[in-house]
Amino acid sequence: TVLILDFGSQYSHLITRRCREHKVYAELLPCTTKMADLDFKPKGIILSGSPYSVYDKDSPHVDPAVFELGVPILGICYGLQEIAWNLGGEVTKCDHREYGFAMVQINKFGNGQVDALFEGLGDEMQVWMSHGDQLSKPPADFHVVGHTDTAPFAALAHNTKPIYGIQFHPEVTHSPRGKEVIGRFILDICKCTPNWTMEEFIGKEVARIREICGEKGRVIGAVSGGVDSTVAAKLMHEAIGDRFHAIMVDNGVLRMNEAEQVYEMLNKDLGVNLTVVDASDRFLSKLDGVEDPEQKRKIIGNTFIHIFEEEAAKIEAAAEEEEKKGADAKGRVEWLLQGTLYPDVIESISFKGPSATIKTHHNVGGLLKDMKLKLIEPLRELFKDEVRALGRLLDIPAPLVQRHPFPGPGLAIRILGPVTREQVFILQQADKIYIEEIRKAGLYDQIAQAFAVLLPVKAVGVMGDARTYEQVIALRAVQSEDFMTADWFVFPADVLKRISSRITNEVKGINRVTYDISSKPPATVEWL
Ligand code: XMP
Repeated sequence: TVLILDFGSQYSHLITRRCREHKVYAELLPCTTKMADLDFKPKGIILSGSPYSVYDKDSPHVDPAVFELGVPILGICYGLQEIAWNLGGEVTKCDHREYGFAMVQINKFGNGQVDALFEGLGDEMQVWMSHGDQLSKPPADFHVVGHTDTAPFAALAHNTKPIYGIQFHPEVTHSPRGKEVIGRFILDICKCTPNWTMEEFIGKEVARIREICGEKGRVIGAVSGGVDSTVAAKLMHEAIGDRFHAIMVDNGVLRMNEAEQVYEMLNKDLGVNLTVVDASDRFLSKLDGVEDPEQKRKIIGNTFIHIFEEEAAKIEAAAEEEEKKGADAKGRVEWLLQGTLYPDVIESISFKGPSATIKTHHNVGGLLKDMKLKLIEPLRELFKDEVRALGRLLDIPAPLVQRHPFPGPGLAIRILGPVTREQVFILQQADKIYIEEIRKAGLYDQIAQAFAVLLPVKAVGVMGDARTYEQVIALRAVQSEDFMTADWFVFPADVLKRISSRITNEVKGINRVTYDISSKPPATVEWL
């Protein structure tokens, strides 16, 4: 394991990802983590960047024990300055914040050799800089291994120990060879074995689940038909078979035939023990007349928790009955499965300043409050692309593994007016046509998320000789890395033309289709 100590840089999680891309397991912890509290011995430590200055009164600093562990250390940006601050160098404020591309010249020694950190990377490389401070004097026992026009100490190495510092950000894609620099550090200098693969993960995780669930205990979990819950459910099934009970709640605002399709795939094809609860009447009657988006979200969230708890109680009652029958019976429901991913974990533990309190994970709260269940989170170490790779290995069909995200409140936040069965049906049909045509055009995987929105306004149209007065569909498709920002997708005109003509021809109640050309920000991805 490589330990990434996070000083609150917006790029910290990317360091973790780049390590994982080299098949080396990396874990991110707050910079204030005490080395004595670690439950593993890292093979190397990377200190991240930070919005702070090392000399600020309340700036964060590492446990000095980091330097006593004897493992290789790489400081990135603030991390470099932190090394200097600890080991006796000097850092000064630049006149101007340096933000943008720079060329690092790699220093050559006696016989033309370069430092191990830059081995095989040529004479110079383009890198991304983003800092307001820079090193003005390296600590004693360090030498320069790379420089730029403006930063004479852009990269340093200790004379005898494996301690490195670099001013630039190798973790961002704007440093095209940055990933290789990280590779040099973790593979050549830390000598990590590149064995973090999803094949290995399955074996280890299945064993871990079996161990913590014991011989009898049962686990319940909600599935939505999305990638994360499907992969988590299949993994649980691999580990404990029918002692895992999946529950899918049909809330009446799913996509066309979605509950049936999830049942086919998860139960019939993948063998997961699944109960589908048709609660659409309950949800839709609660949503009756509600237009406010937050209100819609709240109703759907709370109703979901109620229904899930009812189903869980039924499973528990059945388990209790079975238990009376004999010693061979499977045990009681002890665990709740959550499809938490690593970005959620990072979000809740990442360093947010000396006074920030650690946030609890937002998905967990509601369900656990009333249920006396322990939490099991088999995906909590994984990034989304790792979950997808895992899904492929678990024989989950490719279209599902690559599927766009779908929000928990479903079509209720894509119907801008009141949610009724009729409105849901109109939107389901339009959405189905839209996605079908995107898939046919081979564009699905280029788009991060695509969906239709039903507007609560009517517009005039003409059909045959008659005037129509019907609703409008807005189409949305975005490209995005992380959904924090997003660009609208540029469709070939003929694809839009086909989609529009099919929707207006096939969906009763719609006579007009528009395409949303707003980016996020200032718009959001969803309309509500
Ligand atoms: P926005 O609209 O905030 O969407 O730009 C960003 C991403 O979040 C999804 N989203 C939600 N997902 N419950 C969810 O599970 C919600 O209430 C919710 N609202 C937005 C949205 O689909 C997009 O992927």
